[in-house]
Amino acid sequence: MIRSVVLGVGSSLPRRVMKNTDLEGVVETSDEWIIQRTGIRQRYIAADDETTASLGEAAARAALASAGLTADDIDLIVLATSTPNNTFPATAVEIQERLGMRHGFAFDMQAVCSGFVYAVTTADLYIRGGLAKRVLVIGSETFSRILDWKDRSTCVLFGDGAGAVVLEAAEGEGTVADRGVLAQSLRSDGSHKEKLYVDGGPSTTGTVGHLRMEGREVFKHAVGMITDVIEETFSQAGITADDLDWFVPHQANKRIIDASAKKLGIAEQKVVVTVDLHGNTSAASVPLALSVAVGDGRIKKGDLVLLEAMGGGFTWGAVLIRW
Ligand code: ACO
Repeated sequence: MIRSVVLGVGSSLPRRVMKNTDLEGVVETSDEWIIQRTGIRQRYIAADDETTASLGEAAARAALASAGLTADDIDLIVLATSTPNNTFPATAVEIQERLGMRHGFAFDMQAVCSGFVYAVTTADLYIRGGLAKRVLVIGSETFSRILDWKDRSTCVLFGDGAGAVVLEAAEGEGTVADRGVLAQSLRSDGSHKEKLYVDGGPSTTGTVGHLRMEGREVFKHAVGMITDVIEETFSQAGITADDLDWFVPHQANKRIIDASAKKLGIAEQKVVVTVDLHGNTSAASVPLALSVAVGDGRIKKGDLVLLEAMGGGFTWGAVLIRW
């Protein structure tokens, strides 16, 4: 059977680091409050010349280099983002052009913080369906552009950045020992849309709008939703938490990550945490974390890696990959 195997991973961050202490001059907050409630110590904020397309392009180039490929080898680009450069065309098409790619096709996916998990699943289906042999999956965001910098309950939580992976079709035996994407579970429930949304859009206000979140409400649902899709993924693959080598969750809040890992029985040393460095970068958070853990030698070929995310909508999902 055909499997979608990860060939390379890359990332890109804006030049400017914003520490918690820098935010103390922007809103009434403190380094101590932010660390204690979220685990975030710093985030990166894009300058005017750094966009979702430019960060996504840089992450894509890094992923291609680590795979030993060029854009000529790619058939499809799937970009997960909620902060596109323009309402249209898709920012994926702009990245395609920036990479000098004139063949194949490219499109954006919008599932907010779950975007990368949705995009990997979509890419896997294109590969297994025979429509693409190699896919560049990118998560790129400039959430700083949609934050209300007067709202301390949201502006301290998010940051900008991009991460990418290259997936390639490879023959597998159809067992959990195969390399590649092994199982996935996606969910959404629009009845929660008022808990986390942007209060603008082309068809309603005609403006970009700002992120609004009932943080406590999101928190309340997060752990249960995350653990549901992960258990579903485990049961599809016939594995348990003990079989995992690495858990790479969406990086929104250290307390949500810790509570999910604890509920699932995933040992602390198997959890990749980068929320302290990047804040919540929405669809970029999982590939950024992957890039860090592959770069420092933690995630190695053959390791069993679980990705998970939950975000606005609500949307949520999990993907199991043998690296
Ligand atoms: N600095 C100081 N105090 C603050 C700040 C701040 N930045 N923000 C809020 N406070 C205050 C509040 O005003 C409140 O004060 P009060 O008690 O006097 O009213 C107090 O701190 C507690 O506020 P809560 O909102 O109850 O704090 P909580 O412990 O719930 O933490 C947080 C807030 C960090 C937002 C948490 O609820 C959370 O992480 N929620 C989930 C976010 C998330 O995971 N989102 C998912 C994905 S995001 C996406 O999809 C785009």
